[in-house]
Formats: sequence, structure tokens, C-alpha cells
Amino acid sequence: MYSSGRAFLAIPGPVEVHPLVYEAMNRRTYGHRTSHFREIYADCVEKFQQTIKTTRIPQFHSGSGSLGLHAAITNLTKPGDIVLNLVNGKFGERVENITSKFVGDSPSVKVPYGQAITPEMVRAKLDTFPDTSLVTITHNETSTGVLNPLHEISKVVHNHGALLMADCITSAGGDIVEMDKWNIDFFVSGSQKCYGLPPGLSFMVFSDQAEEVMRNNGSRSEFYADVLQFNDTKLGVTPFTPAVNMIYGLQAALNLIMEEGLDKRISRHRLMGKLYRDAMTSLGLELFAQEQYRSNTVTATNVPKNVDVDVLRSNSLALGVMIAGGEGTMKGNIFRVGHMNLVGPREMLMIVSVLELAMKRAGADIELGRGTRSIQEGLAH
Ligand SMILES: Cc1ncc(COP(=O)(O)O)c(C=O)c1O
Repeated sequence: MYSSGRAFLAIPGPVEVHPLVYEAMNRRTYGHRTSHFREIYADCVEKFQQTIKTTRIPQFHSGSGSLGLHAAITNLTKPGDIVLNLVNGKFGERVENITSKFVGDSPSVKVPYGQAITPEMVRAKLDTFPDTSLVTITHNETSTGVLNPLHEISKVVHNHGALLMADCITSAGGDIVEMDKWNIDFFVSGSQKCYGLPPGLSFMVFSDQAEEVMRNNGSRSEFYADVLQFNDTKLGVTPFTPAVNMIYGLQAALNLIMEEGLDKRISRHRLMGKLYRDAMTSLGLELFAQEQYRSNTVTATNVPKNVDVDVLRSNSLALGVMIAGGEGTMKGNIFRVGHMNLVGPREMLMIVSVLELAMKRAGADIELGRGTRSIQEGLAH
């Protein structure tokens, strides 16, 4: 009944976009060297800074989130450097791949999918590799629904004198990320997740220390994502033609975040995460991520017994809600739901009640309505 073009996006990005963002993007494209555009760009800079509590200048690159991961490695490192990759999912593996292409063999901390990386693991590895110059981490591992303890890990990394690159692609804008207080040296995020835009922008911010390392990095091999070149131009004058209409959309999206209030937005995401997790467990399902490290923006759940995940997903789609499966060896074993950006009580009730029906039709042994009731109970007071 619902085509994939009409289904509600409950995948972990891209997400549902607010009509005001589309409206803003649908405006006339101004030249990017005009004062009109520069004012919009400067407004985005100032508002974006508030979302991650930084005084550093954010950069809005045309590209997807992965461009930022690539840029962090190619700007901050040179072949032969020791880069420690913290890996507990497919996105951590992506950074590990980029690292091996540009830097060569590097150490890593690896734990099974669904588990979190702890500060102790990082400390032990850094003791073994004291010359590590950069540590990379995926804050919110979207492939498993694990939220790694970024702030605590950052303390360990800086005690060892290394820099920290954090992939905050599915945390920033929805959950707490404090760039300056947490000492993140290279922050990366993207437009199509908690910030609530269509795909197309890669957000990057770096610290003073990271800037110094990049300036002294004689073998920095970047051109398009040369973040220093980007910074050295006057504010709002990007080195290449920016995605002008995406920046219009960014301004509208940031206005929506400011209007809601960052703290309230984060509380809403945290509440929605909890409601969704409680709904799944009240249906008798098991959550994939380790307790205490569960993401507030995306949840991975073990597929109920005797259910084919592809049938579950297509049942859900037919009822108007698009969900995601697992990647790599997790394929067939988990299903993932994103609860980012616009997901509030109404959307949560819809997602869970559709999922219950989709599971039942796929042969799951669940009590219809139990998950929905759990959400209602969670919101009753
Ligand atoms: C944690 C994380 N890192 C990296 C990426 C890759 O981002 P993109 O697809 O925008 O390049 C994603 C996308 O889902 C992600 O969730």
C-alpha cells in the first residue's frame, strides 16, 4: 500500500525532514560570494557552535559524513604514523579502512559487535603503543546501537598526549556532544541524521592542537577536503562553491533546534530512546547493544525467533514505516530503528504499533499491543 517513497523513515538516516527545511531549500540560489549568502552562512556557524558547545569555527563541506572521516585522517596523519582505531561496528571499520589506506598498518581496539569500548581498554592499548599520535572513535555506532563513552575515553587519550577524532554522525544534534569540554580534536558529523536535513553536508570542526598538527604536517595529502584551506578563507567564503541550498536548509534546521532548545531536544531523544527500548523488551525481544551503553538515537534489536528479517522489513514498509536490517555478519540477526530528529510521542506510537503488526504478520510470538501500551504507560505521567 505504501511505496518506499511514501513510508516514514525510521531507518538510522536519512531521517524525516521538517517541511520548513524543505521550504527553505526551495528558495532561489544566490551567488555564494554575496553578502546575502555570507550572512546566512555566518548565522549557521554561530548556531551550529551552540549544538556542540564549541567556540571553534565549524566547516560545512559538500559531501556525506564519510568525507569528514576521510578528511580527518588525510589532514592529521602521514604514512607511518601510529593511529589507534577504536572499532566496535561497521562505521569504526570504515575509519580503520581509511587509516590503512593512508597511514598503513595501525593498532586497534576491537570488541565484538554490540559491546562498548571502555577507557580501560584504550589505556591498555596506549600503554602498548605510547607513540600513538591519533585515536579515532565512533561515538554512536549506528550499526550496533552502542553509544561509546566518548568523554571518558577522551581523558585517557589526552593523558597520553594523542589527538582524538570523533565520528559524531549519529549523536550530535540529538544527544550530548560537548566539543570543547570533552577535548575533541576533530569532530565529524553529517546532515541527514539528528540535524534533520537531507543528505549532502559533512560537518567538521577541529581544535587548536589539531590545527597545529595539520600545519606542520608536510605530507598532508588533501585538496578538496583541505580543512586548513577552508579555514584560511574569510568566514562564509568557502574555497569551492558550497551547496548553497543545503546551507539554506541548514539554517532552517538549526532554527528549529534553537526553537526547541538544545537541552529539551536532547531530553526528547533520550526519552524516545528509552521508550523504544522498553517497548521492545516488553514484547519479549532482546536488545543487541550492551546495557548501559545503549544509544538514544538508534536501537538494534535481535530479530524475534522464527522471523525472517526481510519479511519483517517488507511488512513494516507495507504498513508505512521503513526500518533497517543489520550489516555484515549482523545481517539477518538484528533490525534497526532510528529515532532521530522529528521522532516524538506521536511518531514513536506509530513506529512501535506498526512494528508489532509487522512482527505478528511475520510469525513472531508476541502479544499485540504490549509495546504500544508500554509507550503509553511511559508517557502517562
Ligand atoms: C556512525 C556513522 N559513521 C559514518 C557514517 C557514514 O556517513 P555517510 O553515509 O553520510 O557518509 C554513518 C552513516 O550512517 C554513521 O552512522
